[in-house]
Amino acid sequence: MSDAVAQQTEQQEPEIDLSIADAVIDKYIDIPGNLMPVLQGVQDEYGYIPHVVADHIAERLNVYPSQIYGVLTFYAQFHLKPRGRFIIRVCVGTACHVSGAPRIVETFFDKLGIGHAETTPDLRYTFEKVACLGACGMAPLAMVNDDTFGKMTVQKVDEIIAEYNQRPMK
Ligand code: FES
Repeated sequence: MSDAVAQQTEQQEPEIDLSIADAVIDKYIDIPGNLMPVLQGVQDEYGYIPHVVADHIAERLNVYPSQIYGVLTFYAQFHLKPRGRFIIRVCVGTACHVSGAPRIVETFFDKLGIGHAETTPDLRYTFEKVACLGACGMAPLAMVNDDTFGKMTVQKVDEIIAEYNQRPMK
C-alpha cells in the first residue's frame, strides 16, 4: 500500500451505503475480467472509490485488496478521495508555463486554500495541475469541468471563482 493510500485509510470516511456497490458488482459478477468495469461503475456511483467499498469489492470478487489498490493507484482515472463538484485544471505545460501558469496556479491556491490534487472541505472545488491541454495558442489555459478559459490572468481567477461559487452543487 502506498503512503498516500495508507494516509487515506487512516482518515474517517462518511457512512457508505454498500448496497450501491453491490448493485454494480452483481451486474458484472459472472463476467471474466470484471475488475475494471466494477471499479469504473462504482466510481460513477459514488464519485470516488471509498476504501470500505474497495475492500468490499475485493471480498466479493475474491481478489486480494492489494490487487484492487494496485489498479486504483496505477490508473489516474480512479480517485480514492471525494472529488469536488467543480474540477479546476490549470495547464503547466511548456507554453502555459512560460506564459505565466505558475502565477495562475499560486493564485488559485491562495484563493481556494488548497494545493494540487486537493479538494475544498465543502467539496465545491478540486484543483489539479495538468500537462498540455492541447490549446497552447490560448496559453495560459485553465479549465473548470468542460469549460475552457484561455489567456488566463490573476483577475480571471477571481472572476472564475466568483462565477462558480454561484453555481448549484448538483
Ligand atoms: S502547454 Fe498549456 S495548452 Fe499546451
